[in-house]
Amino acid sequence: MDLELTGKRALVTGSSSGLGEAIAKALAAEGADVVVHGRDRARTEAVAQAIQEAGGSARVAIGDLATDEGADAVAETALAGGPIDILVNNAGAYPHRGWKDATPADWSRTYEVNVVSAVRMILRVVPRMHERAWGRVIQIGGGLAVQPGADLPHYNATLAARHNLTVSLARQLKGTGITANTVAPGAILVDSVQRFLTDLAPARGWGETWELIERNAIEELVPNDVGRMGRPEEIAAAVLYLSGPHAGYVTGTTLRVDGGTVRGVH
Ligand SMILES: NC(=O)c1ccc[n+]([C@@H]2O[C@H](COP(=O)([O-])OP(=O)(O)OC[C@H]3O[C@@H](n4cnc5c(N)ncnc54)[C@H](OP(=O)(O)O)[C@@H]3O)[C@@H](O)[C@H]2O)c1
Repeated sequence: MDLELTGKRALVTGSSSGLGEAIAKALAAEGADVVVHGRDRARTEAVAQAIQEAGGSARVAIGDLATDEGADAVAETALAGGPIDILVNNAGAYPHRGWKDATPADWSRTYEVNVVSAVRMILRVVPRMHERAWGRVIQIGGGLAVQPGADLPHYNATLAARHNLTVSLARQLKGTGITANTVAPGAILVDSVQRFLTDLAPARGWGETWELIERNAIEELVPNDVGRMGRPEEIAAAVLYLSGPHAGYVTGTTLRVDGGTVRGVH
């Protein structure tokens, strides 16, 4: 199936690692011209280089999206070659804190990094989408938005805000040819998550090998019907679908990619 992404211009925020890296590579493999973004220049350039070596088209934008100046710099680079057709708001962080140690400053900072960062890019990139009367705005949300646990309350709330602002944006974009949707991953195996679980394993008695740790961590923390963590490429596949013309009648929705972690009809 041709996803009809050849020649589309895409900006994937936070694509210097993890889910964003997989999304940027997948879009480029489908023929999109991708702007790879991060704060860490070396890692961001390495992802762009890997895309180019695989025959794809990529350029680099560097900036801290928790600041207006950083967002300005990223938008300037991204829009230099014309309007962006596909904006994927993926950049974010999930500092491991709970109710007892997440301070009000942590709550504010996490909102700034995870929510206002996306708003900054929407305000800068979406107006130019109107020039082509076509566009895709995709937020990476998460199952914890609708099924939070006791941990990471400051982070869970930012995921809920991402889901919520997506629906509002879809209403605002009524009749423009531009859609807004959320992809909501469950627990996805990226380097930082693997390190976190491996560090936690001895105290929890999850075992010595990664295979055992993953199986036990899943059962204890995020039980799901598939019985494993997701892979970044599985999130990228959902983003590919929503990015193309085949998803033209899909807006304001949340596409869960979580192995059935979230229970109920959300
Ligand atoms: N992994 C999961 O299980 C999971 C599940 C649900 C949702 N998510 C969401 O998916 C997104 C990506 O997470 P990940 O697991 O792939 O984590 P990751 O590997 O740590 O990637 C985070 C990315 O965000 C960028 N970033 C962080 N703070 C930033 C800031 N202030 N300004 C600009 N860029 C910033 C990082 O760039 P630099 O490193 O270059 O600074 C990096 O590219 C996050 O929004 C997260 O909430 C992840």
